[in-house]
Amino acid sequence: MKLSNQEKQSLIELANEARRRAYAPYSNYRVGAALRTKSGRIFTGVNVENAAYPSSICAERTAVFKAISEGELDFEIIAVVTDNGGSPCGGCRQVLAEFGLKTLVVLADRDGTVVKETTVGDLLPDAFQPQHLRTS
Ligand code: THU
Repeated sequence: MKLSNQEKQSLIELANEARRRAYAPYSNYRVGAALRTKSGRIFTGVNVENAAYPSSICAERTAVFKAISEGELDFEIIAVVTDNGGSPCGGCRQVLAEFGLKTLVVLADRDGTVVKETTVGDLLPDAFQPQHLRTS
């Protein structure tokens, strides 16, 4: 399904709004994500850091896990907003790849300006996916 620029922009706005709720007292790098499922539902997410640093979670994964825990497994697009349009980390790429390589990824900066539009497959070539576990 083709998304209009207006739909993309409103997803970016939701991600940017969510970003205000990021809990990032250690890095001060606030990230907001808004994930739209094929059924049209939207799940936002923020990074949630922890005094025990490795226990932190990224915004993208928060959004994905919220969707999965609500029974939504088919994703259409995820918008990610950071100060400077930073790209999803390797762990988030892997988590997104679990649910499809075609998911669109739109990266925007603090002003909501699109910095990059891509797909999960392009961000993670040769992804290890569920079917790789089926060897027979
Ligand atoms: N972060 C995200 O939320 N998403 C990414 O894909 C990159 C990094 C967060 C993790 C940490 O809270 C902060 O940004 C700095 O790494």
